[in-house]
Amino acid sequence: MRTTVGIIGAGPAGLLLARLLHNAGIDSVVLESRDRGYVEQRQRAGILEQGTVDVLRAAGAGARMDREGLRHDGIELRFARRRHRIDFPALTGGRSVMVYAQTEVCKDLIALQLKEGGPLLFEAEALAVEGADTGSPRVRFRHEGREDVLECAYVVGCDGFWGVARKAVPEELTQVFERTYPFGWLGILADVPPSHDELVYARHDRGFALLSMRSPVVSRLYLQVPEGTDAESWSDEAIWDELERRFETDDDWRLARGPITAKSVTPMRSHVHEPMRHGRLFLAGDAAHIVPPTGAKGLNLAVGDVVTFARALEHRRDTGSDALLDAYSATCLRRVWQAERFSYEMTTLLHRPPGATPFEDRIQLARLERLASARAAEQDLAEGYTGFALE
Ligand code: APR
Ligand code: PHB
Repeated sequence: MRTTVGIIGAGPAGLLLARLLHNAGIDSVVLESRDRGYVEQRQRAGILEQGTVDVLRAAGAGARMDREGLRHDGIELRFARRRHRIDFPALTGGRSVMVYAQTEVCKDLIALQLKEGGPLLFEAEALAVEGADTGSPRVRFRHEGREDVLECAYVVGCDGFWGVARKAVPEELTQVFERTYPFGWLGILADVPPSHDELVYARHDRGFALLSMRSPVVSRLYLQVPEGTDAESWSDEAIWDELERRFETDDDWRLARGPITAKSVTPMRSHVHEPMRHGRLFLAGDAAHIVPPTGAKGLNLAVGDVVTFARALEHRRDTGSDALLDAYSATCLRRVWQAERFSYEMTTLLHRPPGATPFEDRIQLARLERLASARAAEQDLAEGYTGFALE
């Protein structure tokens, strides 16, 4: 098999890249190790930055998002039993975010790709990328019980944190920056209308909690739990009791309970792999960088990477110049590090690490007080949350 761009992975990065290339008249093949049902059901965050919304619309993939997505103009910070709203449009010159789950973004892009795009092979596992530093890289893969080779002009590794593409970058050329956090998020889906019309990020002495949503009738909620917690060790009642405590306010706000339909624990890490390119192999999305979920930057970063790659390849086709492809890694990394910083700051602002000292507690509260009283601090958060512009 032969194509211009071999794409490994059909998460949001790989699927959107295939769509952007199709629209630009560049052919690609997508290899995805899992089956379609798995990719469409995998629970992830659901906040789209303004820029991501614009990209999906321009790619012709925004119709259902515009019908079913919920535009959000702010978030609430909750601490010391008080509530403080951050008003995005007022602080950023009109920007907002969209609540639309990653599962739905993937479903929309898969449907478009199967209808109009190039080959998208499910249960096709990439085994290795070979010849990345030659003019004709290859992906060895297994599909329907036999091994095959995809010959490409370029390979883009969109295969997430556990993928194989990153391994084709020689270790001596690689630098990895990493931080793991000594806690995770216990996440639930519940059949109950969200108890607030915007997301609520709560800092509490017992740990962080987040109220989010998937639709007007489905809530998504999270609790900070110790690293390595087994989701099944939490009964439904214990989860609701703990959420109630952490969201408690001095006014008459109440948390509504409902049947829990899914329960899982997500670990928290920051991770950046530099560079994001080796020869004709490019890394995009979680294959190159992970952020902790506080602030929901993962999907939005993946979108920025593939937009940058697609533009660079179009530029090469139209002008013959490799300048933008050569700049890919540095261009992406500038935005990646801003999102890493933002996610790290949101995480340390709101979580209570095990063994936090009274001094650290006071500093954390002072940071929140500052957000609640100084427009400059609020503005910085609002700009980061609604997203850093693509170069
Ligand atoms: N061969 C083929 N496919 C693979 C392989 C492989 N060897 N290894 C992994 N994959 C597939 C996975 O099954 C998955 O579908 O690559 C895809 C990677 O998708 P994601 O993990 O969703 O990563 P990405 O597309 O970069 O999206 C970033 O993911 O972590 C979240 O919140 C984050 O929303 C962000 C998004
Ligand atoms: C989610 O809805 O899953 C979500 C929302 C905001 C976050 C993280 C996750 O910061």
